[in-house]
Amino acid sequence: MAELLNGKELAKEIRQKLKEKVEKEQLTPNLAVILCGNNEASKVYVRNKSKACDEVGIKFKEYLLPNETKQEELLELIDKLNQDESVDGILLQSPIPKGLNIQEAFARISPEKDVDGFNPYNVGKLTIGEDGFIPCTPYGIMKIFEKYKIDLEGKKAAIVGRSNIVGKPMAQCLLSHNATVTICHSKTKDLKQELKDADVIVAAVGKRNIIKADMVKEGVVVIDVGMNRNDEGKLCGDVDFENVSKKASYITPVPGGVGPMTIAMLMNNVVKAHLMKGTK
Ligand code: GUN
Repeated sequence: MAELLNGKELAKEIRQKLKEKVEKEQLTPNLAVILCGNNEASKVYVRNKSKACDEVGIKFKEYLLPNETKQEELLELIDKLNQDESVDGILLQSPIPKGLNIQEAFARISPEKDVDGFNPYNVGKLTIGEDGFIPCTPYGIMKIFEKYKIDLEGKKAAIVGRSNIVGKPMAQCLLSHNATVTICHSKTKDLKQELKDADVIVAAVGKRNIIKADMVKEGVVVIDVGMNRNDEGKLCGDVDFENVSKKASYITPVPGGVGPMTIAMLMNNVVKAHLMKGTK
C-alpha cells in the first residue's frame, strides 16, 4: 500500500513559514487577480487563493471582467496593474472567454509580476535553467518530491498531459532534476506502453480514471493533478486511486494532494515578487 503524499499538510507548513516571514520582516505583498467571464470552477479557485492570501498576510484584490470583455480592455487592465507600483503580482485566471487571446494577455504581464510563470520570458528562463517564476503546480509538485526525499536523478518520469500550465513546465522541472522525461498526450499511440516502466507518473489530463493499476509498475510514484467529479459529485483525480495505490510506493490523494500546493507556491511567488521589487 502506497504512502500518501500529504500536500495539504506541506502546503500549510509553507503558508505558515511565509506568514511568519511577512510578519517578521513587515512585508506588504500584494496580489491582483483578474477573473474574466463566468467560469464557476475559476470562481472557486480564486476564492481559495483569496483565503490563502488572507492567511499569509498578502493583500488581495480581485478584478472581475464580464464575458463580453474585449481583448483591448483586458490588455488595458494588465497595463494599469503593470504600472501600479503597489501591485507585486498579477494573475490572470485561466480559462478566459472564447474569442480572447490568453497567450497575448500572459505575455503582456510584466515578467517581474508574473507570479504564475506563464509569460514567455519566464517560460524561457525555466527552459534554460535560470531563476524566474516557476508555474505554481509543477513547482508545488517539486516541493512534494523534496519533502518526501524522492530522488529523481536518472529516474524515468512520464507526464500525461501537455498543457502550458502543468505538463510542459513539469517536464522542464523534472529534466532539471536529471530525470528522463516522456510527455504523453491525446495523440500518444499506446499510453500503457509509455507508462509501464515509469518510476514517476504525473497525471494532468482532466479525465477521471485514465491511469489504471494495470498500466503502472510496482513501486511507482504517482502524482495526480486531476480535478474531476465522480458520479456522486465527489472530487476525484485522473488516477484510479483505489487500485493504483495498492501498487504505488507513494501517491497524492485528491483532494489534499497537489491542489493545496499550487496555492501555497502562488503565495511563495507573490512574496518573492515583492522582495524582488526595486532590486532591478
Ligand atoms: N487555471 C487552472 N490552473 C491555473 C493556474 O495555476 N493559474 C491560472 N492563472 N489559471 C489556472
